[in-house]
Amino acid sequence: MSSSSSTRSHSEIFEKIPVHVFATPTAAARELAAEVRQLIEYRKAEGRNAVLGLATGSTPVPFYRELIRLHREEGLSFQNVITFNLDEYYGLAPEHPESYARFMAEQLFNHIDIPNENIHIPSGQVPGNQVFVHCREYEEAIEKAGGIDLQILGIGRTGHIGFNEPGSSKESLTRRITLDRITRQDAAGDFRGEQNVPHFAITMGVGTILRGRKLALMAWGENKAGIVARAVEGSVTDTVSASFLQEHPDARFFVDQGAASELVRFKLPWLVGPASWSPAESMRAVCWLSKKLGRPVLKLVDEDYNENGLSDLLSEQGPAYQLNIRIFNRLQNTITGWPGGKPHEDDTYRPERAKPYPKQCLVFSPEPQDAVVAMAGTMERLQDQGNHVYLANLTSGSLRVSDSEADKFAGTLNELAISTDESAAWLPQKAYADEVLRILAEKGEVGEDPELLRRLKALILRGESRDAAQAIHIASSEVSFLDLPFYEKGRYRRFKTTEEDVVAVASLLRQQRPNQIYLTGHSSDPSSVSAMTFSIVMQALQQCMGEDWRSACSIWIYSGKEKPFAPHEIDMAVPMSPTQMERKQRALGRFQQLTSLEVQAPDRDRATARHYDDLGLAQYEAIECFQRWRAA
Ligand code: GLP
Repeated sequence: MSSSSSTRSHSEIFEKIPVHVFATPTAAARELAAEVRQLIEYRKAEGRNAVLGLATGSTPVPFYRELIRLHREEGLSFQNVITFNLDEYYGLAPEHPESYARFMAEQLFNHIDIPNENIHIPSGQVPGNQVFVHCREYEEAIEKAGGIDLQILGIGRTGHIGFNEPGSSKESLTRRITLDRITRQDAAGDFRGEQNVPHFAITMGVGTILRGRKLALMAWGENKAGIVARAVEGSVTDTVSASFLQEHPDARFFVDQGAASELVRFKLPWLVGPASWSPAESMRAVCWLSKKLGRPVLKLVDEDYNENGLSDLLSEQGPAYQLNIRIFNRLQNTITGWPGGKPHEDDTYRPERAKPYPKQCLVFSPEPQDAVVAMAGTMERLQDQGNHVYLANLTSGSLRVSDSEADKFAGTLNELAISTDESAAWLPQKAYADEVLRILAEKGEVGEDPELLRRLKALILRGESRDAAQAIHIASSEVSFLDLPFYEKGRYRRFKTTEEDVVAVASLLRQQRPNQIYLTGHSSDPSSVSAMTFSIVMQALQQCMGEDWRSACSIWIYSGKEKPFAPHEIDMAVPMSPTQMERKQRALGRFQQLTSLEVQAPDRDRATARHYDDLGLAQYEAIECFQRWRAA
């Protein structure tokens, strides 16, 4: 995939904003940081200040890390830099763990030599009747500094820049805004529950942002792919604030491959130039054509291909009749009721090999609910068909558990101790419960959880996870909890993995010696728990290279909840009956803290089955699906 370049190729004709695609966020961050360095040094030589507009969220973190590195290792000074942040949650004090003021201090300002008085962040604490004045003064301060030279932006799932939710006008200025439901859901993890997420924020307006001389929007991971494509290729609309960047003379997107994946040049490459018709690409094109015309694969005719930009494919692999049959058979061969391989059967066209049987199947779940959400039915099948399923929960998931759950548990323990008897046997439990209740009362809804509380929350989730596993026939003894240190020591969007994490996973792999591995996170937002655990497992597998079990082990990827696999991406489709779906639903019900996307998992399984049906394959109730891992 190309990296940045100033000349735009024909393949980018649908893109109304220049998009630079990088192999990794770090590579993109490095390029942008180098540009900032140039700006700062250029301005310094002129005896002037460089004015930067800054953003929060997980997206700019690699960029800030690179700026810090430039400062520490290459002596870049920020003495002549003035910054203006885009936004702040309204109602939060600067010391609140989720305030953007604290975020900026921890992620950047504490590590560079910028003078304090040069930092500007909207205040989340101005009284209601002074908000208007505060916002006007913010605008004036930007103007007084000479305007913003380079504005850094991220993008929210609603397409917002800053906190300019759908409906924000092109002329809007700094103001208080009501947060969208989706935005609050996305922040729910950070605040341990949607109910704790502020309803309002103060944000620069779209108009304020557009006045910046240069704009650079960063986005990582496939969960941003849809909104990036809408902003770049869709029409300019106030329902996607980022689309206003199309009207700016110097706006650019810096994205990784995941976030670029819905752009026409990657999604439908044959529409923008000659395509290379690999088996995967022809599968993608035929599925697309069938969907576009609303006709099953076997009913597509030569004209359909010719009239829809696929004449190349036809001349290389046609006629339509032959091509259709080949694709249909390949799709058909992805379907199996035997995810662990069907013993004693010819496996030439089956997704998984028959031998060995039974198989040792190791399922990795980033947080405890993830594997159940994506593949409860498949785990149950594997187990019922005689394989040995081992469910490894990589992190404790403690950050997801609400205070009220901990309160409920400690309250019950306390009462039990009081009501059972007053003997010494209960004293430690009583003291423990009292301590938990004290911590909860003291820290309030939004304070940080000390270790004791995180531990209790992890234990609560352990119970739920074992319970859910039992509902799909997996014994408690086959569920393990690795509690990887990066998670235990970190917070959402700010995790940092270390060798310790990799060592823990490698040792589990050596102990299990699996024939099959299931995992997820290959193209998620790199700061997410699933992307981090994916990279940890991959590094651990690398360490096991050359061991006898390793080369014979198949690796299956299950999709993240934000972006289910499309039919052309599926290598193994495991159909589920209505009764199995009921059991999956029951297993999901064992978790108290599911997000709306997790609750909707069965609907997504049903939608996958409908896609197969539309392509002309058998009609199933639902399908869980997997991709074979192919190392790049
Ligand atoms: C918040 C911020 C935005 C940011 C967005 C995306 O809504 N106000 O400025 O772009 O989150 O966050 P992330 O980068 O974590 O995906």
